[in-house]
Amino acid sequence: MENHKSLIWPQAIVVAILALCGAFGIGLLLPVNPKMSEAQTKQALDSKDLTAKTGTQQRIEKFKAMMLTSWQEQAKAKGISYNLPSHYQGATIEQAKLSPGQKVIALTFDDGPWPKSTAQILDILKENNIKATFFQIGQNLKNYPDLSKRVVAEGHVLGNHTWHHWYHYLNPQAAAFEIESTTNLIYQTTGVKTNLFRPPGGVMRNGVVDYAKHKNYAIIMWSDDSVDYSRPSVAKLVRTVMKEAKPGGIILMHDGGGNRSHTVEALPEIISNLRKQGYSFVTIPELLELQDKDQALAAAKKQVQNKDQNTTTDKKPTQSPDQNTTTDKKPVQSPDQNTTTDKKQ
Ligand code: NI
Repeated sequence: MENHKSLIWPQAIVVAILALCGAFGIGLLLPVNPKMSEAQTKQALDSKDLTAKTGTQQRIEKFKAMMLTSWQEQAKAKGISYNLPSHYQGATIEQAKLSPGQKVIALTFDDGPWPKSTAQILDILKENNIKATFFQIGQNLKNYPDLSKRVVAEGHVLGNHTWHHWYHYLNPQAAAFEIESTTNLIYQTTGVKTNLFRPPGGVMRNGVVDYAKHKNYAIIMWSDDSVDYSRPSVAKLVRTVMKEAKPGGIILMHDGGGNRSHTVEALPEIISNLRKQGYSFVTIPELLELQDKDQALAAAKKQVQNKDQNTTTDKKPTQSPDQNTTTDKKPVQSPDQNTTTDKKQ
């Protein structure tokens, strides 16, 4: 049996080699086959190419869809949360303290999501390539979840503005419901775990702010009230906003809660006027981050100035702010200088 087998194998290999040579030969002859027109050849090649391309395209699309799903799942599992340093947790912020040269300002929109006006405001922000912050009401979010999804998908920031937008006193259980149910729905709908809270009507003493502080939310107020809820004329609305505009300012407007056609109409003019004055636009987390950087830089500059005044022997060229922060090991520093710097923080 074994001998017989060993005879068959070499034969099989020879047959296979011959078959391969034959196929190769035919392959070589094909392009020069006179019976096949050039167009036909091209067509044959093109269709082969197209099939290959479609296959690749499908594989890429499949891969992209897979990656997107996995990214969305991951985002939902982890939650998109805004990076707030611990000193902002439980703090109340009306505006950022920035040096005068830092012309940034934050647009904020309350009481949405709302049919028509939220989408119109999103369109204007998109046209102008501006990111803003939206403080949304839980029950509106329940009614119009797609609008909130769009807010997040277009890169804007979401904050909590309670479930019912009530002004009256709320006991701790009611306050907990107002805040927790809204934050939970924002998370379920958009994957965002918000840590920003704005009390309805700016009411600080009805129980909701106490609860929000206890839960480490940053309480975001405003420095520039457009008073758009009273529906002034578009010209007056623009004037009011411009009058109070300042570096580090937080502008309060409304995308929901009523007829917001005046706000929608005024917004492009407000944006254009602020840009003419040299302002750029940031979200609330960006504004707070800028404040921290600005203050760190100012403290570092102050330290350099103090050192220059007191250290005549210092021959070092200009130092970067990093070198001058708390890690400075120089013996020339007096305790007084440290105290001054601490107070500036
Ligand atoms: Ni409101």
